[in-house]
Amino acid sequence: MTTPAVRIQNLPPYLFAEVDRRIAEKRAAGFDVISLGIGDPDLPSPDFVVEAAQEAVADPRYHRYPDYYGRAEFRQAIARWYGRRFGVELDPNQEIVPLIGSKEGIAHMAVAYVDPGDVVLVPDPGYPVYSIGTLLANGVPFTMPLKAENGFLPDLDAIPVDIAHRAKLIWVNYPNNPTAATADLAFFERVVEFGRRHNILVCHDNAYSDVAYDGYRPPSLLQIPGAKDAAVEFHSLSKTYNMTGWRVGMMVGNQQAVEALGRVKTNVDSGIFDAVQMAGIAALDGPDSWVEERNARFQQRRDLIVGTLNRVGLSVAQPRASLYIWAPVPDGYNSVDFSLKVLDDAAVWLTPGVGFGAHGEGYFRISLTVADHRLIEALERLERLSF
Ligand SMILES: Cc1ncc(COP(=O)(O)O)c(C=O)c1O
Repeated sequence: MTTPAVRIQNLPPYLFAEVDRRIAEKRAAGFDVISLGIGDPDLPSPDFVVEAAQEAVADPRYHRYPDYYGRAEFRQAIARWYGRRFGVELDPNQEIVPLIGSKEGIAHMAVAYVDPGDVVLVPDPGYPVYSIGTLLANGVPFTMPLKAENGFLPDLDAIPVDIAHRAKLIWVNYPNNPTAATADLAFFERVVEFGRRHNILVCHDNAYSDVAYDGYRPPSLLQIPGAKDAAVEFHSLSKTYNMTGWRVGMMVGNQQAVEALGRVKTNVDSGIFDAVQMAGIAALDGPDSWVEERNARFQQRRDLIVGTLNRVGLSVAQPRASLYIWAPVPDGYNSVDFSLKVLDDAAVWLTPGVGFGAHGEGYFRISLTVADHRLIEALERLERLSF
């Protein structure tokens, strides 16, 4: 029997395989395990999106292969949304490529840009797909540590010059998964300048731009004047509109990059179901009040979690955005030990930070995406623990 490619065999082992086994064991033993680990909104997609999809699904015009580059009216809706939300002007024909969820585009970006041995700068801790995509293209991920003392922003000055010379892409992601850190335009300006200086395409993953609290409105990196010369931004309807299951997102910005990623995609996929694109238009053109009301619900959960953690002595900062709380583990534990102790003692699952990279050690992540009554139950259990 032939074997899978070396690039598959070389992928890092799935850290949580053992952990999944422990959770399954706990459940099999009759414990009601509450997972606070999953970053997938439990709240439904908006009614106006579901209705638009129902109408489109019933229309035979949308049952055929979709257009490779996405429906023109979907690209126009993306451009309208970027204009309204960020004041960023985009050419729907040359600066937008719709994606089957942003994960797909993030992974394929390496196919478009990375030759064997090329370096890609990736955050650590970070969303794993930046480095996995790189490895699948036989590239070399170079990690940029995100440290609390730097506000979980990468220290661009710490990147060795020879590495910068070999790098094709740099990934940044604010609001950030998993640290919940946010970045201002001054940081984005520094990243764009770094990209220009070293001839590296800046890739900003803005998946959480519209999950924000206390009136905060996270910016787009493309608000930096001239950024389109050096940068692209990935976006998704998944978190903005509770639409993770629909698989729809976009990459926008630099025209050459849009063309390159589009060229990969036309050869490996056949676009997004047209009915989903019609639903996407309804989402992007929908009322801002829907997003605000949804965020108010996540904000209540954030306040509950932060309050409980602080009461049990796990001091934690209050995030302004994202679906996550990133908190230091108590003294004397590493992140996996701590998560397993909480699983054993309280039947609550918290994601150990090391799952997001070596620099995530010493932290755990809680998601805000659990139904209120389950979250309250989990927090009551945590309050009864002592560390
Ligand atoms: C930082 C980040 N980027 C991208 C994604 C992918 O989202 P999707 O593929 O649903 O658009 C996620 C999903 O969790 C994420 O956390």
